[in-house]
This record gives sequence, structure tokens and C-alpha cells, in this order.
Amino acid sequence: MHGYLLETYGPPLSHAAKDLPDPQPGPGEILILNEAIGLNYPDALMVQGKYQKRPEPPFVPGRDCAGTVLAVGDGVKGFAPGDKVVAQVFSGAFADRVLAPENRVFARPAAVSPVDAAGAMTVFNTAYVAVAIRAGVKAGDRVVVTGAAGGVGAAAVQLAANLGAHVVGIVSSEEKAELVRRSGAQQALIITDRAEEPLKNAFKAQVRTAWGDDRGADVVIDTVGGTMFQAGLRALGFAGRLVVVGFASGEIPAAKANYLLYNNLTVMGAPLDIHFDEALDRLREGTAWWLSLLAEGKARANVTAVLPFDRLMQGLQDILDRKVTGKLVVETGARA
Ligand SMILES: NC(=O)c1ccc[n+]([C@@H]2O[C@H](COP(=O)([O-])OP(=O)(O)OC[C@H]3O[C@@H](n4cnc5c(N)ncnc54)[C@H](OP(=O)(O)O)[C@@H]3O)[C@@H](O)[C@H]2O)c1
Repeated sequence: MHGYLLETYGPPLSHAAKDLPDPQPGPGEILILNEAIGLNYPDALMVQGKYQKRPEPPFVPGRDCAGTVLAVGDGVKGFAPGDKVVAQVFSGAFADRVLAPENRVFARPAAVSPVDAAGAMTVFNTAYVAVAIRAGVKAGDRVVVTGAAGGVGAAAVQLAANLGAHVVGIVSSEEKAELVRRSGAQQALIITDRAEEPLKNAFKAQVRTAWGDDRGADVVIDTVGGTMFQAGLRALGFAGRLVVVGFASGEIPAAKANYLLYNNLTVMGAPLDIHFDEALDRLREGTAWWLSLLAEGKARANVTAVLPFDRLMQGLQDILDRKVTGKLVVETGARA
């Protein structure tokens, strides 16, 4: 196979692809002919040794991939050679052959290309955990999404809108607002001052009243953290829920328990990874649902660039340099 074997941690452009021995699936494993790789910010951290988990090199990094099953190991029940799949592995996706444990592999409809499936995998599954599993959004709910033009944010807007919720997205520019409206939000509010007091005031004055009354939102999906989280609490109405998805601002906020008590609010976390082990059936339902939305054109993976395999590390560098809007996907050149 051809892949990026990371021998030591270092900046993206210090790593190159090479020929490697073909892997064989062990018990419970699936060997995938990998056609497309979705790039995520954590991949850029991982190759530098800056991700929260640091596997000992040598290893092949990469998490989101899509292609066709080549072979299955003993005990695999749900998949057979020839099946079209999408997977999120802990490592190993930066290669044209990927070994994945069965709980990380999902059936892919023929109508969803490997590029779209790989581009959507982490962000749509994360959005599904936040919007459907944790917040329990239903038709008619009022939902605010912060960082709404980001990968997870745009997926959350689309999933909440497809559930029949009334969605308001928070963004920092008109270009991002346009993307959020196209994703199905009723409104996209451009808020540029991110200092705590102005942001709290903007949420009190504009966001909680965005639906024409002062009842407030049922749910805030927060991908930004920091001052955005503090302000997000101000948009919530009676029994409102704020779902912590991530900290794109780099700041981890703290909630005052008395504010939650007096205002009858819930704050909850939405980590994707734990759901592969603890709630796989719910995740499989969710993956099947959002893949069907992509297949029917009711949601979009927002893939803005497709790179050849030898430009993969340049893609990670572009993510670090914040040059990327939408999702970046790499084609390996492998074909089923
Ligand atoms: N819970 C999980 O399991 C899980 C899974 C995947 C990702 N995450 C986390 O979720 C967060 C969002 O991920 P993503 O893939 O959606 O990221 P992304 O595509 O980079 O989008 C993040 C958005 O946050 C906003 N933002 C505000 N301040 C920012 C800053 N200082 N730097 C960068 N962006 C900033 C930006 O929108 P504006 O400019 O409009 O504000 C941007 O569109 C990240 O913290 C990520 O680590 C969590």
C-alpha cells in the first residue's frame, strides 16, 4: 500500500508518503480500499504530536476515510468484501488501504461519493451526537448554533433544520452568513465583537429575541467556547440546554452553578468518540440518517477542495494557517 508512515512527530510538510506492506485484517477488523480521506484540525495536531493522545511512532495517522471493503477478519458480522463504507479510525486513514475495527465502519449509500462521505464523517457524526442524541432537538425547537459556518457548526445547522427546528446561526462575516442561510438556518446573525460584555449584550438583545418574542432558545450548540459560551447561556429560555461541542476559540469556559440554578438551565457535553463504544446503535442510526440526507440532496458535505494524495500534508498546513473554509478532502487515487 501507499501511505504516510509517521516515523517522528513534526510539522505537516516534514512527512512524505511511501510504499508500505499491505495490511491483513485481524479478528474483528475490516480492510478498506480507501478512496478518499477527510482532513480535520485534529489531524494537523496529531502529526505534530500536539493532539491530546500521542501514539508512539511509527504509525500511519488519519481518521476519516471512505471506500470499499476488500476483506474482513474473523468475527466480522456486518460487512463483506465489496460493501461501500465510510469509517472513522483512531489512526491509519492516510493510506490507500485502511484497517478499521468493525464499530468504526458504517455502510455508505452508492449515491454518496467517497469524497462527500469522508468529508462529512467526523463533523456530521459530532453534530448528530450534539443535536439529536444529547440535546434531543425536535420539530419546532428554537436552536442557536455558534461557529455556524465551521465544519461541525454547518452540519449542526443542517441536521437541526432537517429535524424541523428553527435555527439561528452565529457567524463573523457576511460570506459565512450566506453559507449558514444556505444550510437551512432561518437567520444568520453576524456578531464581530467577541469581548465578553458586548457579546453577552448582543445575545440578550438579538439572539434570544431572534424569533420575535423574549421566550429565548431551547438549545444552544456551542462549538466556540470562551466568551461565546458565556453569551450563549443568555440566549436560553425556560429549561434551555447548552451543548458543549468544542473550543474553537481556544478558551475553555466555566459555568456559574447559581446562574444555571436561577435560570433552570442544563449544560451538557457532546464527545463523539465515546459514542463508538457506549452508544454504537444510536450512532449507526444517526450515520444512516445523515448519509440519506446527503444522498437525497437535503444536506451538503460542504467539500470546498479535493487534493491529490501527495498534497495531503499541504492540506493540513493550510488548515493550521486558517486558509480553509468548508471541508478539505484528499483522493488517494485507489478505485474499487
Ligand atoms: N465534541 C467532539 O467530539 C468534537 C468533534 C470534532 C470537533 N470538535 C471541536 O469542535 C470545534 C469546532 O470544530 P470545527 O471542525 O467545526 O472547526 P472549524 O471548521 O474550524 O470551525 C470553527 C468555527 O469557530 C469560529 N471561531 C471563533 N473563534 C475562533 C478561533 N479563534 N479560531 C478558529 N475558529 C474560531 C469560526 O467561526 P466565526 O469566525 O464565524 O466565529 C469557525 O468557523 C473545535 O474545537 C473542535 O476541536 C469536537
